[in-house]
Amino acid sequence: MSAIFITGTGTNVGKTYVAAALIRRLRQMGRLVDAIKPVVSGYDPAQAAASDPGVLLDALGLPVTESEIDRISPWRFRAALAPDLAAAREGRRIDVDTVIKYCQTAIDRRRDILLIEGAGGIMVPLDGERTILDVMMALQLPLILVAGSYLGTISHTLTALDALYRRSMRVLAIIVSETKGSTVPLDETVAAIARFAEPVIGLPRRDPSQPVQSGSPANKTVDALGRLFGQ
Ligand SMILES: Nc1ncnc2c1ncn2[C@@H]1O[C@H](COP(=O)(O)OP(=O)(O)O)[C@@H](O)[C@H]1O
Ligand SMILES: [Mg+2]
Repeated sequence: MSAIFITGTGTNVGKTYVAAALIRRLRQMGRLVDAIKPVVSGYDPAQAAASDPGVLLDALGLPVTESEIDRISPWRFRAALAPDLAAAREGRRIDVDTVIKYCQTAIDRRRDILLIEGAGGIMVPLDGERTILDVMMALQLPLILVAGSYLGTISHTLTALDALYRRSMRVLAIIVSETKGSTVPLDETVAAIARFAEPVIGLPRRDPSQPVQSGSPANKTVDALGRLFGQ
């Protein structure tokens, strides 16, 4: 039984993509998987299926209904801004202690595997003083750090790792999810980060128009991740 926190070096790097791929693979392996994404900004109810909770629910084999979205993502905000700013636009404020309690309850009640997707990068503000890193520190779960493969990602990733290691957080794996149109070869980026930390796993960009092949590089990546849960 494991609970794992999926964080990233920033927004739009592939956290939800990695989480959904992992959920699908673990379910194929016969594991019971739950997932939550407590805080979502840029949430448009008219586009629920494309939202992070929508993508996660679909991977979990659950209906994308308002009540399910409410259950896995209670803090949703319209504006595509950092959560504290998005909440302020609605005259609201995120109570970080309540977010931590909500996550802890999900951890305590998990049936087998629980994945928690963070929000934005590792230090995105949730209120005036605290960031998502404070939630990670309170929960003390092992982490998966997702990064892109764009030019600049090596420094972003090492900076994120430094912040995590200084707080004695345990990083299970670093996933470099290939950035669309990146000019930097994925394998060189993976090798560069791997000189500082390990394991680093490269996840090639999947062409959504192509069917998923078993044995494809993406599937091998997810298999490698799936094995982390078998331990
Ligand atoms: N390896 C990949 N192959 C194909 N598409 C990807 C890959 N990684 C990310 N994406 C796509 O890139 C976009 C941003 O990824 P997402 O997982 O939503 O990022 P985050 O959760 O970090 O904000 C999404 O449309 C997602 O489907
Ligand atoms: Mg996401």
